[in-house]
Amino acid sequence: MKIVSGMRPTGKLHLGHYLGVIKNWIELQKTNDCHFFVADWHALSTSYEDKLNLKELGHDLIREWLAAGIDPENSHMFIQSAIKEHSELYLLFNMITPLGWLERNPTYKDQLEQMKSKDINTAGFLTYPVLQAADIVLYGAQGVPIGEDQRPHLEITREILRRFHHLFDSEDLFVEPKEIMSETPRLLGLDGRKMSKSYNNSIYLSDSSDEVLNKLKGAKTDPQRVRRDDPGNPDICLIFDYHKEMSSQETIDEINSSCRDASIGCFDCKKLCHLSIENILEPMRARREKYDDDTINAIIAKGNATSQKVASLKMELVNKIIFQKG
Ligand code: TRP
Ligand code: SF4
Repeated sequence: MKIVSGMRPTGKLHLGHYLGVIKNWIELQKTNDCHFFVADWHALSTSYEDKLNLKELGHDLIREWLAAGIDPENSHMFIQSAIKEHSELYLLFNMITPLGWLERNPTYKDQLEQMKSKDINTAGFLTYPVLQAADIVLYGAQGVPIGEDQRPHLEITREILRRFHHLFDSEDLFVEPKEIMSETPRLLGLDGRKMSKSYNNSIYLSDSSDEVLNKLKGAKTDPQRVRRDDPGNPDICLIFDYHKEMSSQETIDEINSSCRDASIGCFDCKKLCHLSIENILEPMRARREKYDDDTINAIIAKGNATSQKVASLKMELVNKIIFQKG
């Protein structure tokens, strides 16, 4: 299958990104033709005032993908703004996309509500899903791995395609993409809220072993467990959620019973959690070392070149259909 997915370059990656998105990508790349890209134009749609160094952020994001296990031999990694065809198709799609589709988009409405600190009443933010549609169909993606909040964007992508096909009598030009939903629910942050850089509650993929342990030490557990021999309830404990995502079934079962009869203390339980997280992060540290800046730049250049070829072939067809009618 052809797979396309993108991520906005907004800073360091945390465990939530890994479990929710990247782990999925790593599985998919084994048996599919994957393009993963840095959505730097999309980042501007909400952060145009923030003076981000998007070049550096994009480079760093790809380093983290490589460290996490995206394999440059298997997957094409590229930078959205390097492939001008995205903006060309975005422009054409904007011509045919009814405003109502964009204004009714639940993700759009949620974000307007949530991001009160930013002025995102812009054409760019309203038309975010139009650019996303272009990202996807330029490569003929059949599958698009996304999180739940992105589902409406895939729906809009399909609606734009159908309308395009209809308006320009071009039935088979674009492939209709399907969403591939990640199974892992979003990992919570150390304070029990959504894991996010802005809440300062994240375990980053680039944290050292000591940093991870210190963060875990500070995390709240079952508040009823005041003393070591108080029985606990793992069902309301964040650390147990982490175990469920990252520890072996034996460890999970063991903690589930030994927390309830107080035969394990929270500190020991956190140390086991630390081990499970380290099982994920330690191999990443080794890979992060391996990829120096030059190697990363070469991987990006290659991914850009391959993606460019695919995108420009598609745009040739699109332009023929639109501009050489009759
Ligand atoms: N909107 C996506 C997100 O915020 C990022 C994205 C941009 C994307 N273009 C895409 C994802 C195309 C999949 C396909 O997560
Ligand atoms: Fe949470 Fe583990 Fe403590 Fe139970 S023993 S309350 S699961 S940290």
